[in-house]
Amino acid sequence: MRALITGGAGFIGSHLAERCLREGWFVSVLDDLSTGSFQNIAHLKGHPKFEYTIDTVFNGPLVSELVDCCDIVFHLAAAVGVRLVVDSPVHTIETNVHGTEVVLCAAAKKRKRILIASTSEVYGKSVKVPFSEDDDLVMGPTKKGRWSYACSKALDEFLGLAYHNEKHVPVTIIRLFNTVGSRQTGRYGMVLPNFVRQALLDEPITVYGDGSQRRCFGYVLDAVEASATIRRSRLPPWPILFEPACARNLKSCVSPMKRFTGQDLKTCSVVFPHWRNSNASLATALRLPWRPLSIPSRVTCALIRSSFLPRT
Ligand SMILES: NC(=O)c1ccc[n+]([C@@H]2O[C@H](COP(=O)([O-])OP(=O)(O)OC[C@H]3O[C@@H](n4cnc5c(N)ncnc54)[C@H](O)[C@@H]3O)[C@@H](O)[C@H]2O)c1
Repeated sequence: MRALITGGAGFIGSHLAERCLREGWFVSVLDDLSTGSFQNIAHLKGHPKFEYTIDTVFNGPLVSELVDCCDIVFHLAAAVGVRLVVDSPVHTIETNVHGTEVVLCAAAKKRKRILIASTSEVYGKSVKVPFSEDDDLVMGPTKKGRWSYACSKALDEFLGLAYHNEKHVPVTIIRLFNTVGSRQTGRYGMVLPNFVRQALLDEPITVYGDGSQRRCFGYVLDAVEASATIRRSRLPPWPILFEPACARNLKSCVSPMKRFTGQDLKTCSVVFPHWRNSNASLATALRLPWRPLSIPSRVTCALIRSSFLPRT
């Protein structure tokens, strides 16, 4: 089996590359290192079944060549992180929409199986919880740049389903919740890495709203385990919610960090969707190997903390 992982030098992609290599697959990574890092894959460089290309998914001829050589495509390359999305809206929309279009178009030529990583962000401001796959998506106004991420990912889903229905490409779409673990950086505004970074810098930990809003978190190794099921041929094309109902309120996530730094909470008055949670019933029905965040909060923090320490 040969896998192409776009965004393979990123947080989730690099763990997925390791997971596929462990399975004995050949792994090819395509990444432009815009938010990912070569350090995430440096340890794989000498592996006989590993290769990487530093380039962009906008490079159609290159993408076609790489897709032709593989059996499965994991399309993870994207502009990710609230701060990046707000600061660089053109880059975000072009990366997430055009990038996916290029990869899908290449997959369509030889009907290659492709997994598209989407996000629970597509539910936007929906207050109907827990989320399920068939729920309506409730977006914020277009003048608020943060919604461009959710909308661009929703468009990726439409595009993926369109390629499936019209061009018979075997597409699987997964909606990931907040995924946590080592190699995650807080640079682009992810919640737990931000908490850890602020704790390490002895800064007050910033929680938006009053901290009672609840979010689902999934462990990166669980997410890649479930993603690897893409090789199963009978997965449906429509979006599958990964990560189950293990919602925690953000205040409780801060507690372990407060314990090792003694830092206080600084709360900001920004209104955020109160609940994000899923029933993951489709994932259960499909017998996907998902599970609740399988590691305790203190281990999560330690794992993320390792991302901020100098690497040798
Ligand atoms: N981390 C999460 O909590 C989370 C939650 C929901 C969905 N997702 C999705 O999972 C995927 C991976 O996210 P991540 O958290 O690992 O983020 P990440 O930023 O670490 O990974 C994205 C990777 O894509 C690469 N990339 C960006 N633009 C590219 C381009 N034009 N060409 C080639 N490579 C490019 C980046 O350099 C980076 O390595 C994304 O599609 C994201 O939307 C992540």
